[in-house]
Amino acid sequence: MPSVLPDGEAVPQDGALPPQALAGAARRPLGFYLHVPYCATRCGYCDFNTYTASELRGSGGALASRDNYADVLIDEIRLARKVLGDDPRQAATVFVGGGTPTLLPAADLVRMLGAIRDEFGLAADAEITTEANPESVDPAYLAELRDGGFTRMSFGMQSARQHVLKILDRTHTPGRPEACVAEARAAGFEHVNLDLIYGTPGESDDDWRASLDAAIGAGPDHVSAYALIVEEGTQLARRIRRGEVPMTDDDEHADRYLIADERLAAAGFGWYEVSNWATTEAARCRHNELYWTGADWWGAGPGAHSHVGGVRWWNVKHPGAYAQALAESRTPGAGREVLAAEDRRVERILLELRLSAGCPLDLLTEAGAKAAARAVGDGLLEPDAHAAGRAVLTRRGRLLADAVVRDLTD
Ligand SMILES: C[S@@+](CC[C@H](N)C(=O)[O-])C[C@H]1O[C@@H](n2cnc3c(N)ncnc32)[C@H](O)[C@@H]1O
Ligand code: SF4
Repeated sequence: MPSVLPDGEAVPQDGALPPQALAGAARRPLGFYLHVPYCATRCGYCDFNTYTASELRGSGGALASRDNYADVLIDEIRLARKVLGDDPRQAATVFVGGGTPTLLPAADLVRMLGAIRDEFGLAADAEITTEANPESVDPAYLAELRDGGFTRMSFGMQSARQHVLKILDRTHTPGRPEACVAEARAAGFEHVNLDLIYGTPGESDDDWRASLDAAIGAGPDHVSAYALIVEEGTQLARRIRRGEVPMTDDDEHADRYLIADERLAAAGFGWYEVSNWATTEAARCRHNELYWTGADWWGAGPGAHSHVGGVRWWNVKHPGAYAQALAESRTPGAGREVLAAEDRRVERILLELRLSAGCPLDLLTEAGAKAAARAVGDGLLEPDAHAAGRAVLTRRGRLLADAVVRDLTD
């Protein structure tokens, strides 16, 4: 969740949605994202909406300490119940992200999930994920999550090399993420993801290969691999500007992506979104699929974004202001936008083109369709899929996904 919020129109005090948002809702899955805005220390590259204890001291209000975070977040889940009224949908997915959710006691995460179960019900096959930092969990913690209903763990591994972890300010030691996978399996988790980052200053192709091999060797059923984004305003951006660490270039990113795709494919991981690979269809992250296919989700917590039936809204960013709004029985929503049909068309292309299933060609304008035909000729889109009416990126197309999207949304 990026830390900069867009502008938009005001959200009514009670959080009420325009009636059209719930039209046809029963046909769409509903997910919940629960944001936990705490980290023990801040990694230099990260601009997520998260705070260390010292950053919140004096300004965090009721949430300056993590002790009552679960209770405040549960207030928002109860508000969601009121806003969604008699919407009969159960939660298909729940994703707890951060920040570092696992800085909270496992019992707090289980209690937040319990509130969704009480207010909405969980679908029989619901996917319940939490992100976790490798140094923040142990077997007892993982067992408590599993017993409490979590079905999927996502660990922030980033790299297997100490010198890369150091540039990223990660506090775990090499080997710890792999041990987490084994501990999660022993606790009964069928689905385990490892997040990796490539293109860190000072990382070589061999370092990246070693990270991929270590991740694959640990036996997760899902890997996410992201090119390092140097976000403005982060410590890493300042260090690069001062010349303390080198910047990596796009060609290097492209090489690393190819290395990742080849190695993961050889180990039985298929790509299903440009940055995501899974061993089977059942191992895909259904919660993320719900974002990418324009389904409905309620994002609870400071700065969290929600989307229901073409209405998108976002919460106030700061934990103090968030807790204050809920204490006064007001929505923590800071702004919203009602997406017009054209916005939704463009957004569908933007998201669906990144999926292995691609996007239907009939979403494209005449100019977009011509661009798609050219992209087939340039080897960026699959010819067979194109003949069958879909735009699907080739491996080379995935390297240039942003540019292809730009052409197709013309
Ligand atoms: C919410 S974050 C982190 C979850 C957890 N706190 C952790 O760090 O392990 C989810 C993932 O986003 C990725 N990420 C965060 N900032 C990034 C950046 N600037 N560039 C690329 N990937 C980033 C990391 O791989 C991270 O594991
Ligand atoms: S631990 Fe995760 S969320 Fe926290 S600062 Fe680091 S990358 Fe960001």
